[in-house]
Amino acid sequence: MSEESEGELEARLPEGESFEPPESFVEQANVTDEAIYEEFEENWPDCWERAADLLDWEASYDQVLDDSDAPFYEWFVDGKLNASYNCLDRHVEDGRGDEVAIEWVGEPTEETRTYTYQELLDEVEEFAAALRDLGVEEDDVVTMYMPMIPELPVAMLACARIGAPHSVVFAGFSADALATRMNSAESEYLVTCDGYYRRGDPLDHKDKADEGLSGVEHGVDTVVVDRLGDELDHDLDDEQHDYDDLIDEHAGASVDPVTRDAEDMLFLMYTSGTTGKPKGVKHTTGGYLSYVSWTSHAVLDIKPEDTYWCSADIGWITGHSYIVYGPLALGTSTVMYEGTPDYPDKDRLWEIVEDYDVTQLYTAPTAIRAFMKWGEEYPAQHDLSSLRLLGTVGEPINPRAWKWYYKHIGDESCPVVDTWWQTETGGMMVTTLPGVNEMKPGSAGPPLPGISANVVDMSGDDVEPGEAGYLTVDKPWPGMLRTLYRNDERFIEEYWQEYSDEGTDEWVYFPEDGAKIDDDGYITVLGRVDDVINVSGHRLGTMEVESAIVGVEGVAEAAVVGGNHDIKGEAVYAYAITEDGYEGDDDLRERIVEGVEDAIGPIARPEEVIFSPELPKTRSGKIMRRLLEDIANGEELGNTSTLRNPEIVDDIAGKVGED
Ligand code: WT7
Repeated sequence: MSEESEGELEARLPEGESFEPPESFVEQANVTDEAIYEEFEENWPDCWERAADLLDWEASYDQVLDDSDAPFYEWFVDGKLNASYNCLDRHVEDGRGDEVAIEWVGEPTEETRTYTYQELLDEVEEFAAALRDLGVEEDDVVTMYMPMIPELPVAMLACARIGAPHSVVFAGFSADALATRMNSAESEYLVTCDGYYRRGDPLDHKDKADEGLSGVEHGVDTVVVDRLGDELDHDLDDEQHDYDDLIDEHAGASVDPVTRDAEDMLFLMYTSGTTGKPKGVKHTTGGYLSYVSWTSHAVLDIKPEDTYWCSADIGWITGHSYIVYGPLALGTSTVMYEGTPDYPDKDRLWEIVEDYDVTQLYTAPTAIRAFMKWGEEYPAQHDLSSLRLLGTVGEPINPRAWKWYYKHIGDESCPVVDTWWQTETGGMMVTTLPGVNEMKPGSAGPPLPGISANVVDMSGDDVEPGEAGYLTVDKPWPGMLRTLYRNDERFIEEYWQEYSDEGTDEWVYFPEDGAKIDDDGYITVLGRVDDVINVSGHRLGTMEVESAIVGVEGVAEAAVVGGNHDIKGEAVYAYAITEDGYEGDDDLRERIVEGVEDAIGPIARPEEVIFSPELPKTRSGKIMRRLLEDIANGEELGNTSTLRNPEIVDDIAGKVGED
């Protein structure tokens, strides 16, 4: 039996298998009493004070939740605080300045840096002073386009310190993607770097940043971190400043954290949706920071003495919430890794776990599927006994991968938390509490205490256990997005319109995921139900990819769907129709791939480009995406007689897998 078909069968196995939380874990867990579910329910929304209590407030809030202008909810109303103070100063004031805040592991194995809380605070103050000198004022959006180097969290916390929201753009995104986001946010400041290492080679990043800047419609002051030293030299123009020079100029600077209102914006994060335009998700200071601290405490079981590692990239929400803000607010040591899991060898992550005595590991199913493929001999070469908890996020995890992770990484003595959440939710929403609930591989778990999630049918009624439906959330929570940046209308349309009953003022959040629920209330997330593809746990809008493809000379029309992929979960399948006078040949195929990489980045690279004289359409002229998905997956095609052009189907199907 091939790997693939075995995996497919496994995914269809009946559920029912469950695992108790390991005793050794429960004994020391932050949360162990199952009464917490009831407590939160009875005491809602005041239960959320428990999250806010994890922070230091300059002025305490008057009201936990203001829902008078729903769905524009406000949390911890009139509370005052500063996120950088909560992540840094208060730990130093507690006498913990010499303890490690960030363990940075570079891609070159000999290159590491350790920042104590005091050192991190010092550099954050220096950079905050430099940003102010450049003209950054409270509420100015500062963009960061940086890989996994320590200057990224430094810059984020420096912004938080002076009340300037940051907008981090994933370094793997293209120059165009950077320009779109900077234009949309009217961001006049950029922090970037010269380059970074990928599989042993220095990779230029500044050329890409400069190209992006050429597409920005207003003036931008740029700070450039010299990551690669002599390996790569760049000239800086008048509006570009060297990071080290700025730090030197502001050595020893002290910058008081500004007082922020709980509802003031902490950051913006652009994410993909149904339309071609990325959405600027707005997160606030009080609600977001409380929520990520609480979930880091309750789900990741983070304690100050831990060495916790989330292997995501800070360019995504996972890294914001669970590399930077949650762990640092709780005063733990957070590991940051620059490289990839298979360089210099496929045991790189396990080597880091062993070297640093990592206590929690939080990663993605796509990575676990790759580890499985590489073989259990790689983790077996290392002592992983420091691990206490394992987590996953980003996409559904199949039971086989879950069990492999549990056994070969966790030695059957670490709970696995499968955490469902989104850029918009700010933090985890559906997952087991590792010291309380039993685990069911493949099913994320019950909604967290205080979270009211349901699985409903199209009219909003609860579905029967075991039936597929749509995930909804019918009560607000502190970490929720507040709006889409400067677009309240789209905020309502995208998330609230579908299931809310405006007449009764009952607002229901719709995350656009399919799900099912079992008798015990455990939720299994089935994946997106909008035109979003999840490639290796990263969200891509099909429209974004399509518009990149039709932008290529010679392409008349395109349709993009997600097809199954062994490692990535889903991969991009692109169907294209050529313009008159153009051939669907290798040259055009190559230009399409390049066009997508230029518009979005290598993560959106099509797995296959299939040329076709027409796309399958319904009589009303809509492209039949389902059918294109089935074709990509090599599945049996059902009834095609409702198509306007059924004859086209066999023709397209015959071309998949050809190149
Ligand atoms: C989408 C959100 C949350 C940070 C990373 C992705 C999918 C996420 C799970 C999970 C099944 C999951 C959903 C969701 N997803 N976690 N544990 N099980 N699906 O953030 O880019 O905003 O994507 O990722 O489809 O809607 P994102």
